[in-house]
Amino acid sequence: MKALTWHGKRDVRIDTVPDPTIQHPTDAIIKVTSSGICGSDLHLYEVLGPFLDAGDILGHEPMGIVEEVGAEVTHIKKGDRVVIPFNVSCGHCFMCDHDLQSQCETTQVREYGSGATLLGYTKLYGQVAGGQAEYLRVPQAQYGPIKVPEGPKDDRFVYMSDVLPTAWQAVRYADIPKGGSVAVFGLGPIGLMSVQIAKHLGAGKVFGIDLVPERLAEGERRGAIPVDMNQVEDLTAHVQEQTDGRGTDSVIDAVGMEAHGAPVGKFAQTIAGFLPDKLARPVFETAGVDRLSVLHASIDVARRGGTISLSGVYGGMADPMPMLQMFDKQVVMRMGQANVKRWIPDILPLVTDDADPLGVEQLATHKLSLDDGPRAYETFQKKEDGMIKTLLQPHGPA
Ligand SMILES: NC(=O)c1ccc[n+]([C@@H]2O[C@H](COP(=O)([O-])OP(=O)(O)OC[C@H]3O[C@@H](n4cnc5c(N)ncnc54)[C@H](O)[C@@H]3O)[C@@H](O)[C@H]2O)c1
Ligand SMILES: [Zn+2]
Ligand SMILES: [Zn+2]
Repeated sequence: MKALTWHGKRDVRIDTVPDPTIQHPTDAIIKVTSSGICGSDLHLYEVLGPFLDAGDILGHEPMGIVEEVGAEVTHIKKGDRVVIPFNVSCGHCFMCDHDLQSQCETTQVREYGSGATLLGYTKLYGQVAGGQAEYLRVPQAQYGPIKVPEGPKDDRFVYMSDVLPTAWQAVRYADIPKGGSVAVFGLGPIGLMSVQIAKHLGAGKVFGIDLVPERLAEGERRGAIPVDMNQVEDLTAHVQEQTDGRGTDSVIDAVGMEAHGAPVGKFAQTIAGFLPDKLARPVFETAGVDRLSVLHASIDVARRGGTISLSGVYGGMADPMPMLQMFDKQVVMRMGQANVKRWIPDILPLVTDDADPLGVEQLATHKLSLDDGPRAYETFQKKEDGMIKTLLQPHGPA
């Protein structure tokens, strides 16, 4: 089959690789009909190289049709239409029982001290093959796959693999009071859906902060008050002026470690990119690859007693947190990979609602063949061609 594979920094290719096969009785094989490219994939493209091997198949936002199931997989069968969560989780351990599927104890990657295995996401997260491919082996398929109805286009369902549960968790963790205010940093798919879900769940003022014009426009269309980082000189003052001088009740960071504008972190990233693997890894893990500018801005913009919810992924550990300020402001902070299955009962009724209350049908800006994948990574990283969300469709329109 054909698959999108990593070969080095800013180098992904389409390779021909062996078709996946059932390896455990809990596996399933799906024919991939749609597979998102995520902001998280850009971290693999740019900075996480030390944790990848040439030939690793990327992609963690797939849906498709079941081809084959292992003996222990009974809730889905050949021919079913399914969405695959990006967490590989078992559904029966302590963590899964507590709805913390991203910490699954069956699939934790203990060698790296990481939480649950993730599809197509480096050695840190289990190095299992990802879903930007014609076919995918789904581990722990006795639990993960979400069966969805026939009929509507893939757009309706595919974001349940990652974008929607991540945004839903971001909003729930942000604990926005009814009618209260929230600042959403980053208007990529995660930020845009956070805006939409915050509105849907009753937030009042929602600020959408970014620096790319079409993303700001899309945020505004979905109900945010746009704040262009390139136009506003003092962000904190700007937000405080519109929130009775206090700052927002809640903040969602949907940017993560590759924020624009943090020179020290940028330097560490560049160095990590040049070092041979053995040397680069410790640099990444300890000297830090984070660019924490958005995290610091989040702490500034939150009102005293407010809540900060991080959904942007953070990798390294170097920059010291502003602990004094965090403690003094008494903020609550919640974070982590999304617990996908935890939120599906909340989300499924909305994506199957004809009125499309979350506007999922308008999220994809590009639908492309697998062969177009390498070019799409480049366009997405450069934020060209109005690209916000791409679905790769290896077997044609779906
Ligand atoms: N927690 C999870 O489970 C989970 C799941 C999916 C994605 N993520 C993470 O969420 C983040 C967003 O994902 P996405 O797919 O929306 O990515 P994206 O790259 O499309 O969006 C990031 C946005 O942040 C903006 N941005 C960059 N620097 C900024 C700054 N200084 N201030 C304001 N905005 C800034 C960019 O212009 C862009 O619009 C990524 O870090 C990704 O890894 C986390
Ligand atoms: Zn993703
Ligand atoms: Zn588990």
